[in-house]
Amino acid sequence: MAGPGAGAAPIVGVVGGSRSDFLVLEQATAMLAQLEVPFELRVVSAHRSPDHLYRYAEEAPGRGIRVIIAGAGGAAHLPGMLAAKTTLPVIGIPMPTKHLDGLDSLLSIVQMPRGIPVATVAIGNGENAALLAVEILALGDTALADRLAAYRADLTRMVMDDPSNA
Ligand code: RP5
Repeated sequence: MAGPGAGAAPIVGVVGGSRSDFLVLEQATAMLAQLEVPFELRVVSAHRSPDHLYRYAEEAPGRGIRVIIAGAGGAAHLPGMLAAKTTLPVIGIPMPTKHLDGLDSLLSIVQMPRGIPVATVAIGNGENAALLAVEILALGDTALADRLAAYRADLTRMVMDDPSNA
């Protein structure tokens, strides 16, 4: 799956360990679409398709991917293994899980060894993963930086316009 803008080469790779992660990953892709950042959405499983994971990480920079957002749950090795195979920034989203409420995912993703970072957002927070990717990309893209600033201004306006603030 690719988007937005037919033909625009994706610059953010959004990947999940399973299709069951898509509900959260689609929060990320919706935010990327809103800020007009071309992305792709794929299933890449650390455990079920490890060779594919390696290939994805190796080929991503050459395809124009600049940031990877990786969501995984449980024994959530996908973000860390991607980070091990590429120097592209990797943003991890811990998936909520049935038995441990996502604490398993969070600890699996956040506790990376020295030298191989994964920027980990809150459990299930696809939107923040997208916004962090946008912040990274906006460093070299003034039009995107303007769209991000407008998004932030909207957030502030929503808080200030809330009648319970009066
Ligand atoms: C992980 O295992 C995936 O990221 C997913 O969150 C979790 C469960 O996967 P399914 O059994 O639903 O495919 O690899």
